[in-house]
Amino acid sequence: MEQFALDAIERVTTRPPEVYDSIVVEPLTPLLGAEVFDLDLSKELTPAETDDVRRAFLTHHVLVFRDQDLSDEDHKRFAGLFGELHPVTPPPPDSDPYILEVSANKNSRVVAGNGWHADGTADALPSLGSMLYVTRTPEIGSGGDTLFANMHLAYEMLSPPMRTFLDGLTAIHDGLLAWRGHTPPPGLVIPKTEHPVVVRHPDTGRQLLYVNGAYTSHIPQLSRGESEAILKTLYDYIATTPLLHCRVRWTPNTLVLWDNRCVQHHATWDYYPHTRYARRVAINSPTPPSATTPPHTL
Ligand code: SIN
Repeated sequence: MEQFALDAIERVTTRPPEVYDSIVVEPLTPLLGAEVFDLDLSKELTPAETDDVRRAFLTHHVLVFRDQDLSDEDHKRFAGLFGELHPVTPPPPDSDPYILEVSANKNSRVVAGNGWHADGTADALPSLGSMLYVTRTPEIGSGGDTLFANMHLAYEMLSPPMRTFLDGLTAIHDGLLAWRGHTPPPGLVIPKTEHPVVVRHPDTGRQLLYVNGAYTSHIPQLSRGESEAILKTLYDYIATTPLLHCRVRWTPNTLVLWDNRCVQHHATWDYYPHTRYARRVAINSPTPPSATTPPHTL
């Protein structure tokens, strides 16, 4: 590995460890994700627990809470600690407007999220985070893991000239791309937004790579061919660099919270014809992705 990539990793692994008073936090890898213990999400969190979970979220970006017995109200209350809830679009007929069912079984021909992406990046105010609560895992006893990739590190491990090149660019995120192979319902407003290719996390100010294969159509400052080549290079790099990744192996009644502002995820559909069932709540971000340092950087 090149020295600039090693330096990027070392900056993360030599950070002083966070101290938590009310929860136990065990990292999934040194670079991404953590399991959180000693928390019952069916109860309202205390201010100390809320503060600890928020800090763990900003440090690890993906948090896993196992053995939770949650109603939809519990799920939404926990999500509400991080921001406004994002309604499901198009709205589900006859069910909770904030709960998206994510399920697959022997009749499925496609599965949501089966490719690297971040949720909702075509929106002018893209998703802050998502909370997926898996209650049924494949009967065969394995499969259906979700992979996550750290976009801070993806940026920081690039060579300095590559980072400088990307810093000045923007990208178009087109919601229509997510409908590939399907026809959107008539009247549905499909968002399309231009965001910087490299943005700063609104809560920490740390830079990250902000393009993804599900929504990013092109980089308008480049020719079509150049844009396709650069985006393919970045997507291949994200998909083929395990150091950027962590893997969540689901057990029934596990809730995972991830930060859509700085991680991508990939739902692995490797369990056909078995069944997996989950419910997801998404959280709105109050600020658009920006390349400049936010005033309240931690
Ligand atoms: C999603 O992309 O939100 C679904 C993730 C999953 O099912 O693991």
